[in-house]
Amino acid sequence: MDKIVALAKRRGFVYPSSEIYGGIGGFWDYGPMGVELARNIKEAWWKAMVHDRDNIVGLDASIIMNPKVWEASGHVASFTDPLVECKVCHSRFRADQPDEIADHEKNADHRVHGKLIKVEWTEPKQFNLLFRTFVGPVEDTSSLAYLRGETCQGIYVNFQNVVDSSRVKIPFGIAQIGKAFRNEITPGKYLFRVREFEQMELEYFVHPSEAESAFSAWKQIRFDWHLSLGLWKSHLRFRQHEPTERAHYAADSWDIEYDYPEWGFKELEGIANRTDYDLKTHSKFCGKDLSYRDPVTGEKFMPYVIEPSVGVSRLFLALLLDAYVEEDNRVFLRLSPRLSPVKAAVFPLVANKPELVQKARTVLTLLKKRFVTAWDDRGNIGKRYLAQDEVGTPWCVTIDYTTLEDDTVTVRDRDTTKQDRVNIAQLANYVSDKLETGGI
Ligand code: GAP
Repeated sequence: MDKIVALAKRRGFVYPSSEIYGGIGGFWDYGPMGVELARNIKEAWWKAMVHDRDNIVGLDASIIMNPKVWEASGHVASFTDPLVECKVCHSRFRADQPDEIADHEKNADHRVHGKLIKVEWTEPKQFNLLFRTFVGPVEDTSSLAYLRGETCQGIYVNFQNVVDSSRVKIPFGIAQIGKAFRNEITPGKYLFRVREFEQMELEYFVHPSEAESAFSAWKQIRFDWHLSLGLWKSHLRFRQHEPTERAHYAADSWDIEYDYPEWGFKELEGIANRTDYDLKTHSKFCGKDLSYRDPVTGEKFMPYVIEPSVGVSRLFLALLLDAYVEEDNRVFLRLSPRLSPVKAAVFPLVANKPELVQKARTVLTLLKKRFVTAWDDRGNIGKRYLAQDEVGTPWCVTIDYTTLEDDTVTVRDRDTTKQDRVNIAQLANYVSDKLETGGI
């Protein structure tokens, strides 16, 4: 984990937010490489969930909504974690996270007159995770609003709009990617538990009688999707929530867990059967009937919702961890090429030969039209390879003296380090063929 955190900082994947002011707990910024990787993750999700399917449509709802949304959803009353405070140093922890409590009890150096004293805790009290803000110039209860604690509420409140304005028929889904905010009591574990993050959520609306079969189908689809991105099967597992740990809306909940080094198996994605809880409570609170009428049978019912939901940062971290390879004196990220921040890097063999540099620039322009392509003309070729390896660039293209004679370039493969000689006219297709078929 330390190696990943250091590499991510050094190579522009992830920085602590507002670092020059000492940072702020639970917030991270994505650098030039990180933003590309995160975009590719989101695009892969959107393609698999929306574009590759006939019955799922997209949505982008606002982050701040009418606060009644959060009263209806149950978040104002129940989106809480039990908070305990160390009576000695006043650090706050979640009472339901025994590892962190035990860690504090073991490692906190609390002394009175030089003597170590034992940690004591306050009684747990419920702490609400919704961030609050005020809309407009007056700060009072009438202008109170919340930053959304989960993106899916924007989907439920638009359910009727989508049904009325598109051709969807149950079963169908509405997918959304967007920011969510939670005032976590103890953010930490790097990108794992943060206060501002992106969720990729699907709300799949089904007839109540279909809920169970849709639920098991989505569990498998989502597990397989993680494998298709290159996560190791041995690092993934399912875990069913105990009735006591289920969210207030769920009848059944399963996590796809990832085996994070140091912390062990932890939730990567949650899949829940939310029943008709959300549409029913919104119907009640807004006074409009959000039930659905089947256009063929005429049956009127409140749809059930199956929800797979995954956070971008947890997946981003898992992908970096599983891609990290140390081998033969080099470090490389064996990312699936379609996720790699940069697809190809172009190197003129030397930087002081104008003809060669010009040719390399032509190759760069050609590749840039179709792929994110980098340029590097510093130092020796070996070092340039290593620099690209560390950010997971699958193909490095070198323009050398032979290129000037026969218009061919060498393409070096990140994983095998083998080199192919490719004609410039074929180069873009060579890369796109490999992108489609090669890699993981
Ligand atoms: N709408 C359902 C929902 O929000 P959740 O299990 O609370 O369910 C879904 O969150 C996913 O969002 C999690 O599986 C995780 O990937 C991500 N997530 C939740 N809280 C997070 C946090 N504090 N930091 C990073 N990711 C988080």
